[in-house]
Amino acid sequence: MSLPQGVEMSHLILKRFISFGDYALDATCGNGHDTQFLAELVGEEGQVLAVDIQEEAVANTQSLLKNKNLLGRVRIIRGDHKNVKNLIEEEFSLKTNENSFSLETSLKSEKGNNKENESNKTESKIEKDLNKKSLFKAAIFNLGFLPGSGKEIITTPETTLPALKQSLEFITSGGVLVIVAYTGHPGGKEECQQVLDWAGNLDSHNYNVLHQKYINQSAEPPQVIAVEKRT
Ligand SMILES: C[S@@+](CC[C@H](N)C(=O)[O-])C[C@H]1O[C@@H](n2cnc3c(N)ncnc32)[C@H](O)[C@@H]1O
Repeated sequence: MSLPQGVEMSHLILKRFISFGDYALDATCGNGHDTQFLAELVGEEGQVLAVDIQEEAVANTQSLLKNKNLLGRVRIIRGDHKNVKNLIEEEFSLKTNENSFSLETSLKSEKGNNKENESNKTESKIEKDLNKKSLFKAAIFNLGFLPGSGKEIITTPETTLPALKQSLEFITSGGVLVIVAYTGHPGGKEECQQVLDWAGNLDSHNYNVLHQKYINQSAEPPQVIAVEKRT
């Protein structure tokens, strides 16, 4: 037994919050490992929205989830998470009114492939959430670059911060937003610090914020920031 490292810690937190039937967001799906973990936690009745800016990441996630026979509960889209609000609203055919979502059209089961017969149960779950202005029980941002690929495409504060703020709006009361931040690559420290500055200033009446960091290691293991939405 050993202390959990970044990704393991993020999974421990996600597992604590997510139940069968929940919805979850993976805002940087990469090779699909976090998406797979979420898909297993939400079960057949749940849904995972997986987003990545890179075609290669989308393909890798698609392939992993297909191999694991989990595609039916996952929607994978290529996009920049700095526009995650629009991506979510489009994918779930939601339109925001002043204080609540409305279901604009029936869900996109007609898009075929991995949607199967999810339309009805998805619709009823969304209807349940309409008045709460929320959708996801949990979201994960595993920052940095795609492992096994080039380091040219990388998360940056300019896109990460807007994406985090938008995603938090879609988290249910009692839900959680988890960030795994790497500080060993150029720009990583600054990105991590900006996430900490943002999360550390969230109102404590509405949010609990946790920061996990190893403080005696030179290899700079990833840090975890978790934001629990209290109300
Ligand atoms: C550390 S990897 C994610 C690992 C992944 N969660 C997994 O389990 O394999 C970071 C990912 O963020 C993606 N990314 C970088 N900038 C992005 C952006 N603006 N919007 C969405 N994804 C982005 C990269 O393409 C990369 O795949």
